[in-house]
Amino acid sequence: MRILDAITGGLERATVLDRPAALARSVVSTVLADRRVKDALHGVWLGHSLHPALAQLTVGSFTSAAVLDVTGTNTRGSSTLITVGLLSTPATVAAGWADYAESHEEQQRVGIVHAATNVTAVALFGISLLQRARGRSGRVTSVLGGTVAGAGAWLGGHLAYRQSLGPNQAESVPHTGPDDWQAIGPVADLPDGAAVCRRAGAADVLVVRRGGDVAVLSNRCPHLSAPLHDGDLDVASGEITCPWQGSVFRLDDGTVVHGPATAPVPEFATRVTDGVLEARVVTYPGVPAS
Ligand code: FES
Repeated sequence: MRILDAITGGLERATVLDRPAALARSVVSTVLADRRVKDALHGVWLGHSLHPALAQLTVGSFTSAAVLDVTGTNTRGSSTLITVGLLSTPATVAAGWADYAESHEEQQRVGIVHAATNVTAVALFGISLLQRARGRSGRVTSVLGGTVAGAGAWLGGHLAYRQSLGPNQAESVPHTGPDDWQAIGPVADLPDGAAVCRRAGAADVLVVRRGGDVAVLSNRCPHLSAPLHDGDLDVASGEITCPWQGSVFRLDDGTVVHGPATAPVPEFATRVTDGVLEARVVTYPGVPAS
């Protein structure tokens, strides 16, 4: 709907949000300085972003409580759901801030409003629970909280599905090929110990020659699509660091060493024919190319 696009588009362009967004980013970067903690919160161990999965539990509990409070049929159930929502909030918030700190500025503008909306919703549900503890119904506060949580979830959906914060940006590569062998060029022309970008059919690929060994991966970072050949190559460890938000990948198979990326870089099978390097995408990692 145009009205919704106007609201989200307005937030994306609202430079007035840049100052609080930068402050939040700086605080988060300080608090989440440990890379292992950040990797865990991004969802590197899970293979996809952790925050949206946790948000299902938190927002689902809150909105379900609000629905029960609209009907007034199960106050006890609604109190339980609010408690579950509040208990799951810290983990959901921590994972969200970790992703936020590695997002681009339009995403951060929307993200800061998304966070403010959710803080309001959490506060309302906390108040509702306190009201219940003091013998009042707390239903109005809960329904208000559910409404605000719904608005926050809508902005979260915009961040995830419209602004693509979290999805694997290289997911299409194995499906678009090339699935037949493509000539990359003479092996002898590849610089030793350097990362270069070449074409394999219609795909940009990252090519790294280390002596007689050549690694070919998609050149697209799965986090936000940065060109990986511009990253820092560490020949000794066999890893490349993305030039944008610093995800680290193994050259051998594209595995994520450090986030914010959570999905591996698509890998390409290679062979050398008459001194010419050829490559084809690996559609199913672990299944040898024929
Ligand atoms: S584009 Fe963000 S880490 Fe690569």
